[in-house]
Amino acid sequence: MATIKDVARLAGVSVATVSRVLNKNGYVNQETELRVLAAIDQLEYQPNLVARTLANKRSGTIALILPDITNPFFPELARAIEDVARSHQYTVILCNSDDQFAREISYVELLAQKYIEGIIFASNTLSTEDIIRLKNQKLPMVVLDRALDYGYCNVVRCNNYLGAKLAVDHLLSIGCQKIAHISGAAPFITAMERLRGYEDRIRTYEWSSPDLTEPGHFTLEGGRQATLELLRRHPDLDGIFAGNDLMAIGALKALRQLGIEVPRQVSICGFDGIALTEITEPELTTVAQPIYEMGATAAKLLFAEIQGTLENKQVYELDVSLIQRASTERSGDVVESKDSGRR
Ligand code: RIB
Repeated sequence: MATIKDVARLAGVSVATVSRVLNKNGYVNQETELRVLAAIDQLEYQPNLVARTLANKRSGTIALILPDITNPFFPELARAIEDVARSHQYTVILCNSDDQFAREISYVELLAQKYIEGIIFASNTLSTEDIIRLKNQKLPMVVLDRALDYGYCNVVRCNNYLGAKLAVDHLLSIGCQKIAHISGAAPFITAMERLRGYEDRIRTYEWSSPDLTEPGHFTLEGGRQATLELLRRHPDLDGIFAGNDLMAIGALKALRQLGIEVPRQVSICGFDGIALTEITEPELTTVAQPIYEMGATAAKLLFAEIQGTLENKQVYELDVSLIQRASTERSGDVVESKDSGRR
């Protein structure tokens, strides 16, 4: 296999000149550059990426740290980030943190040793102190999704609070008269903001009650369990706002187990807008996050910081949208009373 020295010899230049042509850094006149490129083609030279990384401490790689790629929300996010990275000739290393900050920190320290050039965190809610500690690694960083207003890095998230109000308003508009909420995992900011939006929206209703909320931990089984518990407490509830789509699918499963018809007896609205909501029976109404746009925006901000063209650090809060489907399609009739024979 040809080496960089063979290329330099054939082109009649120094190894340093070949390196400048490969790394596109430093001046090389056009005639010399063409000679070097011709020698590379003739010898079919393949640069040693490890050696190149060590030489210029740039790996051409960024990292994405997220909670759990098996949750269908995150693959669409990851795809958007990878698409933008590829357009910059970068690759992406994916790290699952399982929402453990200690694991995130150890990833950051390990990745820094591999000359990773930037990190996108789509992870558990990092505190400002965490962010300062991470910024001490001197790595460009964007926090995505579960993010506070840190001031030390760019943040991209959706408007969770208004999205929750949008979900509850929709359930009220179709005639629901007692709406429960399956909340995500505390203390994640996305779960807390959706819970706050739900609580603020129902506060003035006489049926409003703290025990109309049950945690579902952002999982399908958590949603199923929470639904069974909520119906045990409130057999007359007729609307459920789930803090993410996986929990909404779990609620569908519980209602089917109980022989309760959706939407006629209980209507359901989820949150995220993952593709699975289109194949459930009935199809799920959901508050859709602009998942791909969030991921792409985060990646573009990271590359702007890597390339030194970033103006300033701010919070980008993207809008969500209600996608109405069969799980809330009823004519607004008053819901059946408790004695409708429903257990
Ligand atoms: O489904 C996973 C949830 O965790 C999503 O709602 C996303 O916003 C993240 O916070």
